[in-house]
Amino acid sequence: RTVRIIGAPMDYGANRRGVDMGPSAIRYADLADGLEAAGVEPVDDGDLSMPRAEERDPDVGQPSRGNAKFLREVEGVCTKLSDRVAATLADGEFPLVLGGDHSLSIGSLGGSARETDLGVVWFDAHADINTPETSPSGNVHGMPLAAALGRGLFGETDWAPAPGLRESSVAYVGLRSIDEQERELIHDSELTAFTMADIDERGISAVVQDALDVATDGTDGVHVSLDLDWLDPKTAPGVGTPVRGGVTYREAHAALETLSRRDDREGFLRSMDVVEVNPILDEANETATLAAELTASAFGKRIL
Ligand code: ARG
Ligand code: MN
Ligand code: MN
Ligand code: MN
Repeated sequence: RTVRIIGAPMDYGANRRGVDMGPSAIRYADLADGLEAAGVEPVDDGDLSMPRAEERDPDVGQPSRGNAKFLREVEGVCTKLSDRVAATLADGEFPLVLGGDHSLSIGSLGGSARETDLGVVWFDAHADINTPETSPSGNVHGMPLAAALGRGLFGETDWAPAPGLRESSVAYVGLRSIDEQERELIHDSELTAFTMADIDERGISAVVQDALDVATDGTDGVHVSLDLDWLDPKTAPGVGTPVRGGVTYREAHAALETLSRRDDREGFLRSMDVVEVNPILDEANETATLAAELTASAFGKRIL
């Protein structure tokens, strides 16, 4: 199977510069070798071109209510990314998107769910389902699931909600930092949320199996979104919004390995993004290396 690597060096959605260097850092950490060892064929498409944040005014394109910085830029990049992901899938290849901040998932979800009922497993410390009105920060990387699900008003943006994406097919794994209004929204929604407490109680493998049950039920494929701040910051220090109490190195590998090793159904993985690696905040490219290793695990790389 061909895995097409698509770099999306965007940092419009985050509050810290540096996450735009994520795609380079993950490639430098031998991503391609890891994928080959997993038995897939990586083809690197390079990076999507995009304006530098410094050239732009974050307030242009603000919604009439609420706060969403760089909304124009996020829209422009996500529209391109969505088309690229859809075209990759149409060619029978697997789109692997390297971020960049988490706002890019608006594009990857839009492209992957264009003509297919899509399940989602979202590995993250955060719920990323704020809207411009509920966001405490105005950072769009805290809003991609709202945008993809068609919740909230994103001003004059043209992006449509991801057509084949339903809330009931989305499962979070590892939540531990949720804003008050996100908490209410999750309670009132059909989203499935597994927190760190669930992982403590039941173990990572059982939780990921359940998340996959949610994401595969009635869908034709699963999108995996891996935010590196899902891991504990001691293991993954190179992220802009660290939250202590995350999963360990072993739990993370076990989780990603489960994605390729499910006996009842194979090949359900359809698309993936790996986001929020910030090399400026990292220690000797540790977090990018982890991102590359975990990606290889998702594609089936094993110890033996
Ligand atoms: N909930 C916070 C916000 O909306 C933090 C979001 C962090 N998201 C991320 N993808 N790192 O501002
Ligand atoms: Mn279907
Ligand atoms: Mn996060
Ligand atoms: Mn996130």
